Amino acid sequence: MSRLAGQVALITGGGSGLGLAILRRFVAEGARVGVLERDAGRVAMLNAQYPDAVLAVEGDVRSFADNARAVEAVLARFGRLDCFIGNAAIWDHGATLVGRSGEELERGFDELFAINVKGYLLGAKAAAQALIESEGSIIFTLSNSAFYPGGGGPLYTASKHAGVGLVRQLAYELAPRVRVNAVAPSGMASDLRGAASLGQQDQRIMDTRSPEAISAILPLQFFPDPEDFVGPYVMLASRADNRTLSGVFINADCGLGIRGIRHVAGGLDL
Ligand SMILES: NC(=O)c1ccc[n+]([C@@H]2O[C@H](COP(=O)([O-])OP(=O)(O)OC[C@H]3O[C@@H](n4cnc5c(N)ncnc54)[C@H](O)[C@@H]3O)[C@@H](O)[C@H]2O)c1
Repeated sequence: MSRLAGQVALITGGGSGLGLAILRRFVAEGARVGVLERDAGRVAMLNAQYPDAVLAVEGDVRSFADNARAVEAVLARFGRLDCFIGNAAIWDHGATLVGRSGEELERGFDELFAINVKGYLLGAKAAAQALIESEGSIIFTLSNSAFYPGGGGPLYTASKHAGVGLVRQLAYELAPRVRVNAVAPSGMASDLRGAASLGQQDQRIMDTRSPEAISAILPLQFFPDPEDFVGPYVMLASRADNRTLSGVFINADCGLGIRGIRHVAGGLDL
């Protein structure tokens, strides 16, 4: 396991769920990893668990200064940056257009887009120069909601669709020096929270979804763990295994595209 030997990655939201699973696998593959994470306890846990291979920095992806500080800390400690992984995001717990007030949608839009879209843009901006120098890559975590309705409400679905545009435009702008791609997972057991502006900051995705309900809508019919999604990240980050992919979306969604998301609540009850 040394497909990423010598490489340095920076992951946002690396303290939990999918980001933590990617971190563990990247370290096992020989990489050193920086993390930008807003939860102070998770930052302390990572720095204690991985004193040599990981450097976790506390901060918020909505702030360009925090993104820049994380990149500077990684360069100071590890000397280079090969891969930026935009991953920190929040959900909307399926908040619907008709079920929420106009003011809630206004606030919810600003919060979801600030974290899920602006956070990725600002992280890419902070990392761009170092990635151009290393001829590295960017990987964004999107979602089945980047392609299909029914995996959230209009706020989350629109924010993940916006990520598709970000990948395409950055892949266009940063070629030929930097490859830009995305992984779009399906549901999994994580700590994914809702929007504070919608009163959902303490609500986890698995509080309102069951493993049975998720596996029932997935053609492959099982409930994935975060670890089940990390293989595509290793492949996209690896220089040996990925010389050719840029502007590509890996739909790691247990086959959802075969028939879309069926049999979940969310339509108008007429
Ligand atoms: N859980 C799912 O079912 C699912 C499905 C598809 C896609 N995803 C995507 O996977 C990615 C990772 O989410 P997860 O499910 O592992 O959730 P998670 O909550 O377990 O992990 C996200 C991490 O990001 C951090 N974070 C959140 N907002 C932040 C901010 N503003 N600044 C810095 N750090 C912040 C959190 O503290 C947390 O440690 C997200 O992009 C999410 O949209 C998740």
